[in-house]
Amino acid sequence: MQTRFKPTRFALAAAALFFAGQVLAQNAPIKVGLMLPATGTYANLGTMIENGFKLYVDEQGGKLAGREIQYFKVDDESEPSKATDNVNKLIKRDQVDVLVGTVHSGVALGMAKAARESKTLLIVANAGADAITGPMCAKNIFRSSFSNWQPAYAMGKVAAERGHKKVMTITWNYAAGIESVKGFAEGFEKAGGKVTGNLTLPFPNVEFQALLTQIASQKPDAVYAFFAGGGAVKFVKDYAAAGLNKSIPLYGPGFLTDGTLQAQGPAAQGMLTTLHYADNLNTPRDNAFRLAFAKTYKVNADVYAVQGYDAAQMLAAGLKAAGGDIRNQAKVVAGIEAAQIDSPRGKFKVSAAHNPVQDIYLRQVKGNLNEVKGVAIKALADPAKGCKM
Ligand code: PHB
Repeated sequence: MQTRFKPTRFALAAAALFFAGQVLAQNAPIKVGLMLPATGTYANLGTMIENGFKLYVDEQGGKLAGREIQYFKVDDESEPSKATDNVNKLIKRDQVDVLVGTVHSGVALGMAKAARESKTLLIVANAGADAITGPMCAKNIFRSSFSNWQPAYAMGKVAAERGHKKVMTITWNYAAGIESVKGFAEGFEKAGGKVTGNLTLPFPNVEFQALLTQIASQKPDAVYAFFAGGGAVKFVKDYAAAGLNKSIPLYGPGFLTDGTLQAQGPAAQGMLTTLHYADNLNTPRDNAFRLAFAKTYKVNADVYAVQGYDAAQMLAAGLKAAGGDIRNQAKVVAGIEAAQIDSPRGKFKVSAAHNPVQDIYLRQVKGNLNEVKGVAIKALADPAKGCKM
């Protein structure tokens, strides 16, 4: 006798519920958790990242791959000791689909750890901590910005090419500063230079006088400094006020003069820095982005705005590949890995470790612009030491 499959009422109801749930999940907004500094020396950088991200989403009509975007926000205060608690507000309490953030490397390391453990998709929109796309690399972790090594290594090469032999470094004593100085030394010493002293102070202190006195007495050929945000404004002004810029050129990764020029005024004029963005690239893509950003937010875009904008572009590429289904993480990841991101900085793809492979520009401050002087190193990939996926 033939047996016919006869679903029970219970099974039918369960199936209907399951499909309804799937449809609901497909139509529900994508929850984006923005973990950025809203206070402290990096507050403005956080705003620029958020605005850049939202600009791209708004340009797509508020939806990515047909899904509405809903934002959840946490002020991380650039405080590493609060990073785990803060990121868990987004992962556990708000149950976000994707994390975007942050500025400070120490905080971002905490985010990356939590993202690895919970397998939450994370797009790092600034923090350069080398480990994030090194030993801590993971399928679900991407960066839209840079590794601390990238602009620093390029500046080392430039400083050597400019004929400097002995350079001192100065920075805040935390991951980003330490790694930036290390990357600079690698590029500089490989090209024949010597780093003759490393000065540090705790983050986010801005009492630079005693350290500037040491620089004045040691008279290196040049100084390499990593500072950013409010700290960069104060450092560049103090360096000029001490008269050091007249005899000892000050170099750095572009964070030293990005988003800071109005406040730095004459003190920053003529400075050379290296970065994956510049203010007058004058490409149709960048011009359109800068115009839209300036119209929407009434300020000029900077590198942080670009990184936020590109984090949204990366999310869009992943979502598109997954047909809007953020829970299909394998497809989202493969989509981002395969994408060529049409960034205002120039098109880029991510490396196997999920960090942008990108041109590092040499820029010079003129008025309120970091003008591009050329490409210091083309298509530079972070060495991604220790990354195994
Ligand atoms: C970092 O902590 O990695 C960091 C912060 C600010 C910058 C760049 C890097 O502008």
